[in-house]
Amino acid sequence: MICTVTLNTSIDKAYRLASPLVDGAVQRVATCIDNAGGKGLNAARAVATCGEKVIATGFVGGHTGELLCDLLAKDGIPERFVHAKSETRCCINVLEPSGRSTEFLEPGREVSDAEAKALFERIDELATSADVVTFDGSVPRGMADDTYAVLVRRVRAAGKPCILDTSGALLAKGIEALPTMVKPNTDEIGQLLGRHVSGIAEVCDAARELHERGVEQVVVSLGGEGAVMACADGLFRGRSPKIEVVNPVGSGDTMVGAFAVAIARGFSPADQLAYAMSRASANCLSASTGHFDPSVADDLLAGTAVERIG
Ligand SMILES: Nc1ncnc2c1ncn2[C@@H]1O[C@H](COP(=O)(O)OP(=O)(O)OP(=O)(O)O)[C@@H](O)[C@H]1O
Ligand SMILES: [Mg+2]
Repeated sequence: MICTVTLNTSIDKAYRLASPLVDGAVQRVATCIDNAGGKGLNAARAVATCGEKVIATGFVGGHTGELLCDLLAKDGIPERFVHAKSETRCCINVLEPSGRSTEFLEPGREVSDAEAKALFERIDELATSADVVTFDGSVPRGMADDTYAVLVRRVRAAGKPCILDTSGALLAKGIEALPTMVKPNTDEIGQLLGRHVSGIAEVCDAARELHERGVEQVVVSLGGEGAVMACADGLFRGRSPKIEVVNPVGSGDTMVGAFAVAIARGFSPADQLAYAMSRASANCLSASTGHFDPSVADDLLAGTAVERIG
């Protein structure tokens, strides 16, 4: 079983407009689609699509929290959320006919110390039967920057592998607790190291540097350019096949879910990378985040090249 932790869940609302957005005007929405959101829930859908058992945990609250649970049940994802007093946030993505999108992300409302304690204990409990635990995305307002550091230490103390996919201070603190894997993109690893990271040589140096700090597997994702991975087996470069992208949102989250599956199945690091990249590329070919066609992903796997470069 894979356990995905989403502390900052949301109802993601996709507003499709029939005409371009006009600042300061009343705007009617042509269609509105609600989705159970938060990066860990994208990862959870990817795990389920890969055919592995998943349990999603995190905070939900209020009426929007109930809606989120209903939406997740429709996606076929079992959950063990902690129910908090504060309402689950909504995030709105406004899509114009041109394809331009504008996002409004509410901050997650505060949770109490008792609710946080309950969630930490829930994660301890789920970790005992999980093969891999993933920590994804941001945290509700008021939660400390070392939240993931504390959780990573607890899961590692239970002897379970974990993947951390977050950014900013949460990543900087979290990495000190040595998660089994981190999966920053180039912006996130650049921010972490306090320097601009671009081009394969700089990405490789950055990945190696984090691996030398004690993170077993460092995967830097490069969008359509593929990914670089530093681990005990060496340095690897993954290249994705060229595809006509439909919706790239959540490709990194899909990659994390697929890595968790590949680790649970005992794949070698190089095979994990190829598998995770092919599922992430398949996500780009599907309109809904974390859902993809497994046979399309298998075809993409044949076109995904992973080579050892160091
Ligand atoms: N245009 C693309 N063509 C093929 N594969 C892609 C493309 N974009 C993304 N991917 C696949 O998805 C992986 C993750 O993408 P990306 O680096 O954009 O993640 P991210 O920035 O963490 O995204 P998010 O946080 O929105 O999920 C890439 O390493 C690659 O395997
Ligand atoms: Mg990401």
